[in-house]
Amino acid sequence: MQKRIKIAPSILAVDFCNLGAEIKMVEALGVDFLHLDIMDGHFVPNITYGMPIVRDIRKITKLPLEAHLMIENPLKFIDEFIKSGCSMITLHIETITPLDFKKTAVNLKKQGILVGISLNPPTPLIKIIPVLCLCDYVLIMTVNPGFGGQKFIDGCLEKIKDLRKIYKGNIVVDGGIDDKTAPMAVDAGANILASGSYIFRSKDPKAAIEVLRRTI
Ligand code: DX5
Ligand code: ZN
Repeated sequence: MQKRIKIAPSILAVDFCNLGAEIKMVEALGVDFLHLDIMDGHFVPNITYGMPIVRDIRKITKLPLEAHLMIENPLKFIDEFIKSGCSMITLHIETITPLDFKKTAVNLKKQGILVGISLNPPTPLIKIIPVLCLCDYVLIMTVNPGFGGQKFIDGCLEKIKDLRKIYKGNIVVDGGIDDKTAPMAVDAGANILASGSYIFRSKDPKAAIEVLRRTI
């Protein structure tokens, strides 16, 4: 049986003047959750948006909200993002010790929050091995984090393949995902596609989502 590919639009690529309408559009198209890129200008060289925007998004959609925390000191802000309506928290292994991740994951799971670990392209897989057993998903960055619209780094495919050999859970890929790169990522073992530009900058987002969903 073909495995079901899940789609998580990254709203970084929307025209923020139309944010509500764009979210309602992708929700109506049956996407699985929204991927929210939270950047602080320290861990990554860019700043996006924070809790007030997330709270407003929470009011207009029933989709689960994932906070992809590309920030230093993420522990300081997790509770705020949960209060704002996120039910999935993605932490970068470059920003947290394995011990702190474990403590946090246990605590979040008690609250019914899904927890993911992410790693940047240069970060080796071995760094996340100690925390894998506590993850609901692993998010493999396939671009260096900070900006939407970047080119998929082919070298990350090996990492996805290596992870799939040892991890049966959900593998999300994030960065440069489109009709060409999605099949490569899925073939390597990914089952969730976070995608911004390909969906929201497309003339036909419905067709773009269908293409991603039918990736084999
Ligand atoms: C990059 C972000 C990605 C980005 C994806 O730092 O984590 O989620 O928004 O955007 P595209 O699909 O345009 O590469
Ligand atoms: Zn992201």
